Amino acid sequence: METSIFPVDARNIGRIYAVRSTRKDDILDDLAIELDGNSEDAKHLIRAAEQLKCSDIPVAFPTETVYGLGADATRSEAVRGIYRAKQRPADNPLIVHFASLKKLRDLLVPSQATEIKALTNGHTSESHDDDPIPPMYRPLVTKFWPGPLTIILPNPPSSRLAPEVTAGLTTFGARIPANLLALALIKTANIPIAAPSANASTKPSPTAAEHVAFDLDGRIETILDGGPCDVGVESTVVDGLCDPPLILRPGGVSAEQLRSCAGWENVQIGYKNAAETEGSQPRAPGMKYRHYSPRAPVVLFEAGASAPTVEQMRGYLGGKAKLGVIRTRCWTIDGSNDKNPIMASRPNETADLDTQREGAGGFAGLLATLHSSRQPSRTITAHKIPAKGSTTIELLDLALGPDTAGVARGVFAALRELDKRDVDAILVEGIDETEGTTAAAVMNRLRKAAEVNVAG
Ligand code: TXA
Ligand code: MG
Repeated sequence: METSIFPVDARNIGRIYAVRSTRKDDILDDLAIELDGNSEDAKHLIRAAEQLKCSDIPVAFPTETVYGLGADATRSEAVRGIYRAKQRPADNPLIVHFASLKKLRDLLVPSQATEIKALTNGHTSESHDDDPIPPMYRPLVTKFWPGPLTIILPNPPSSRLAPEVTAGLTTFGARIPANLLALALIKTANIPIAAPSANASTKPSPTAAEHVAFDLDGRIETILDGGPCDVGVESTVVDGLCDPPLILRPGGVSAEQLRSCAGWENVQIGYKNAAETEGSQPRAPGMKYRHYSPRAPVVLFEAGASAPTVEQMRGYLGGKAKLGVIRTRCWTIDGSNDKNPIMASRPNETADLDTQREGAGGFAGLLATLHSSRQPSRTITAHKIPAKGSTTIELLDLALGPDTAGVARGVFAALRELDKRDVDAILVEGIDETEGTTAAAVMNRLRKAAEVNVAG
């Protein structure tokens, strides 16, 4: 099978505009798209939408978090195609992506509303009695959709979702992504799209089209290239069907942001960090919980850990010479210092740390970002660290910068970039997870990627 990357710029696909919802009292606006039949970009998009509808081979597309590997969520064969391409065991449920609340409601079907209310402890809402979306989720959806938030919903008994999507659970995850290309694709295909991250199982999540191509070359036909992803870590997964509500996976929307919403003040953390369960022991590669991992072993320095000396670097390299270093807040590099080429400075107090992204402001807010500029790609600087009587270390230095949003956006790409340069080990300067949930999301992913965890 030949894999092709099709560049699509959302600005060139036709006319996109926000519209008021057809429900008078609705909580979210809607999006209208008139594709321009003469645009090459629109043609790529239409072709990908056709494949989603008819083929059993999944299609990769960008979202604001990471690239997704999409398939028609209502067709078992198509959903199985995702597991085949990723080579992932079928016991992990998938997130279903929608382009509007209306389409999500259509899936939940209004006639099921009573049943859903029963499942959600009888929460009701005066003005939305016929709305199948549980009232608990209303403030969240209003504030964070479209955006990096996945909500767990009861899967109605008569559900059109393929059983492979839910992996046998009675619930499913739903989200409306804040990426115009993703929305245009889902809208054009006019089906709910099941999509996990578009990496091969165990590899770092892809935040650019070439990452997808690297992992899935020959396994899928189509990758829509919409440029690098904005957020860089996956969506926050929340369960509001239980009391208190839970965060099942940290991600693009923080616990603090969730707590600012009515009914979510007491949201609890329902996930475990690898560090909590495994301590700081070195872990063997290839174990079941290994995730997000590049080929080279990753050594994660928790915030506050001392920077590694040259001797320690040699230890991590195990006789080899090429070392990747991913820097964030405090590390600086001096290639002429042959004992301590990495120095830890005090964190810059003025650095813009865990800045919270506000909700996109509905579809209208998302459209307003259409013409904003793209992030520049990051560069790798090579340093030679000479040594008397020992191999010179070739240190490849990749700086993500001090602010948390930038670290989140660049961290998966950085692991992949260094892997491509054939490094023998990757040292990562961790950030302080207590500072906010974006930081916690980054550290959660890094601990899963790391084989060695150096305590702070
Ligand atoms: O940002 C994202 O969410 C990306 C993009 C492509 O949208 N997607 C993504 O999907 O990360 P995936 O399959 O890699 O992660 C799905 C997560 C898993 O942690 C899974 O356990 C959880 O969502 N999940 C899905 N359905 C669930 C359910 N019914 N109950 C509990 N957790 C669920
Ligand atoms: Mg994933």
